[in-house]
Amino acid sequence: MFKIVEKEILAPNIFSMDILAPRVAASAKPGQFVIVIADETGERVPLTICDYDAEKGTVQIVVQSMGSSTKKMAVYEKGDSFKDFVGPLGVPSEFVNEDLEELKKKKILFVAGGVGTAPVYPQVKWLHERGVKVDVIMGAKTKDLVILEDKLRSVADNLYVATDDGSYGFHGLVTNYIEELVNNQGKEYDVCIAIGPMIMMKFVALTTKKLNIKTIVSLNPIMVDGTGMCGACRVTVGNETKFACVDGPEFDGHLVDFDEALKRQGQYKTEEVKKDHKHHENCVFNGGAK
Ligand code: NAD
Ligand code: FES
Repeated sequence: MFKIVEKEILAPNIFSMDILAPRVAASAKPGQFVIVIADETGERVPLTICDYDAEKGTVQIVVQSMGSSTKKMAVYEKGDSFKDFVGPLGVPSEFVNEDLEELKKKKILFVAGGVGTAPVYPQVKWLHERGVKVDVIMGAKTKDLVILEDKLRSVADNLYVATDDGSYGFHGLVTNYIEELVNNQGKEYDVCIAIGPMIMMKFVALTTKKLNIKTIVSLNPIMVDGTGMCGACRVTVGNETKFACVDGPEFDGHLVDFDEALKRQGQYKTEEVKKDHKHHENCVFNGGAK
């Protein structure tokens, strides 16, 4: 069992949990993820790692309760335990193996969208701890949904916040902010790392292609086993079939077939909605009990 040692509400329907998982904490690297199984009947839920502390043996995850499984996880409190916490999974970010001096010469831009801000944090922190300066654009629908701002500000060289409705920071989408920085503020970047909803990553990749900036995206397709066996997380990258769980989750954003990835993700959402309705009917049938 894996104990929840801390829980914090970050925004409406978004919460973080620190899980006691010493072996995962000791080997986690930026870019990797975990699969969480809440209880005996729970589904395998892939979640990005937001932070890890090898000394305390804890791993922080950020969860948005939207489907039936994440809604089930949301009722867990500090002191409760999850049945399984598998990881770290996936290939660490490419820069982890790059020459540090070469890395320090690069101008790096992170683009964090909504809940995708969580996996951006350990990457920026890792680079900051090694003296690599990076800029970060973070986007959210509205001010209430801006998460982890202080944490990111403490490790980013420049943090640029954008909201879709203009309630905080720059008024516009992250893609508008990239264009503003590059076209109007004279910023130059060698590489962009974008993590957020699939649709955001598609449009960030289209924008950076025009601006000739190499782009890495972190894909979050449907995952089932997380070990490369089931094929659920299949994506097409540069006309080759890849499995996000073992070959990724990070890929060259200019080579990903986003339209196919979005279509596959959409099929899954339809199933989730059906399941959510069923879950709701069961709750009503049981007088609201879980
Ligand atoms: P959101 O819909 O609020 O979008 C976040 C930001 O992305 C927006 O503020 C906007 O700036 C930008 N964006 C959205 N659509 C865009 C478009 N069409 N063009 C340009 N920019 C656009 O984000 P959310 O509700 O927090 O997102 C939740 C989604 O993020 C879930 O589907 C979840 O699966 C995904 N997610 C992905 C990862 C990952 O590793 N890629 C990690 C966590 C969550
Ligand atoms: Fe099954 Fe990747 S989740 S192959």
